[in-house]
Amino acid sequence: MAKFRTLDDIDVSGKTVLLRADLNVPVKDGKVTDATRIERLAPTIKVLTGKGARVVVMSHFGRPKGKPDLAFSLRLLVEPLEKAIGGRHVAFAADCVGDEAKRVVAALQPGQVALLENLRFHKGEEASSPDFARALAELGDIYVDDAFSAAHRAHASIEALAHLLPAAAGKLMEAELNALTAALDSPARPVLALIGGAKVSTKLDLLRFIIGKVDLLAIGGAMANTLLLAQGKEVGRSLCEHDMAETARQLLALASQRNCRVILPEDAVIASELAAGVATCEVAIDMVPHDAMILDIGTKSIECIGAALDEARTLVWNGPLGAFETPPFDRGTVAVAKRVAEMTRAGKLLSVAGGGDTVAAIAAAGVIDELSYVSTAGGAFLEWLEGRELPGVAALSATSRRAEK
Ligand code: 3PG
Ligand code: MG
Repeated sequence: MAKFRTLDDIDVSGKTVLLRADLNVPVKDGKVTDATRIERLAPTIKVLTGKGARVVVMSHFGRPKGKPDLAFSLRLLVEPLEKAIGGRHVAFAADCVGDEAKRVVAALQPGQVALLENLRFHKGEEASSPDFARALAELGDIYVDDAFSAAHRAHASIEALAHLLPAAAGKLMEAELNALTAALDSPARPVLALIGGAKVSTKLDLLRFIIGKVDLLAIGGAMANTLLLAQGKEVGRSLCEHDMAETARQLLALASQRNCRVILPEDAVIASELAAGVATCEVAIDMVPHDAMILDIGTKSIECIGAALDEARTLVWNGPLGAFETPPFDRGTVAVAKRVAEMTRAGKLLSVAGGGDTVAAIAAAGVIDELSYVSTAGGAFLEWLEGRELPGVAALSATSRRAEK
């Protein structure tokens, strides 16, 4: 695991800290619908202000393509951010660089907080332009990165800026990296990976990487259909990547070479279509009629995953196990989530989950606070599960090595 400096290693008193956050939160009709990322950022702001730093929060929001577009303004996050940090005032700068940003930052007293407008209003952000990074660096003395969920983007505020100022990880970044390291780099074994979602094709790199890392791999969701097809099973009209059957066979062969036991569904909940309240029935996996759709894992499969959870000491989970947005096809995912929570509570399992849909499914099961760690990251969590180096994490560890010399 890469080494990086944390808030404990830097002196921020009286300094201006540029805090890279990921405030790319879901918003509907001008209101934040899930404030998790804002709430998880708050402890870092509290530590920094408590030590007498001036805190300048920077983030992207949406994909405005390098020009100002008020539909993607961060102004609407001022209030939720104030709320998350206990009602403390947050100043807003209508641009993230230049005179406007300098004016707002210069007016801050120690312990005060400002939020800068969307970084992606400038082309230099996504292009990781050195000039844009320098314009950001001019605003502060120290760089703190708390945006693990954006660490897979080699953008100016994530990568280039880390090299221009003394840099450290914020508390959220630190927690994410510690949880992910505990789950895959030096885990208590056996390790179980629970992987769901729609397609094998979008998770090929992930599957190849974790097959070499974990002892048990349980697969659910529509991607399991592709593996079942590869084993010659009838999957009816289920969502399935017929052109991936050969690749799926190779994955199964790789797993057996690597001593990774693959657990595929033994039964399924089927229906004639994916619709709420439709008539369903449960069948053994080799009894799926040619005109039916597999929409969730069945009771026996839930038990098999439960047995794997009993055996495992570490769990990494990405992807729902059925069409969980449409009840009753959420049953398998919810049952497994509850079992994971139970094992974690009992101290028998270290459980780490991440990825957009996964988090929504675990939240729907009502156990989001009961896993060991639920990541705020979507794409970054997936890239980490693919074994890739994340530019944001690499930049932090490179700057920490430099500081040691
Ligand atoms: C995310 O929400 O996954 C991150 O904020 C990255 O956003 P992006 O996919 O638009 O780069
Ligand atoms: Mg166990």
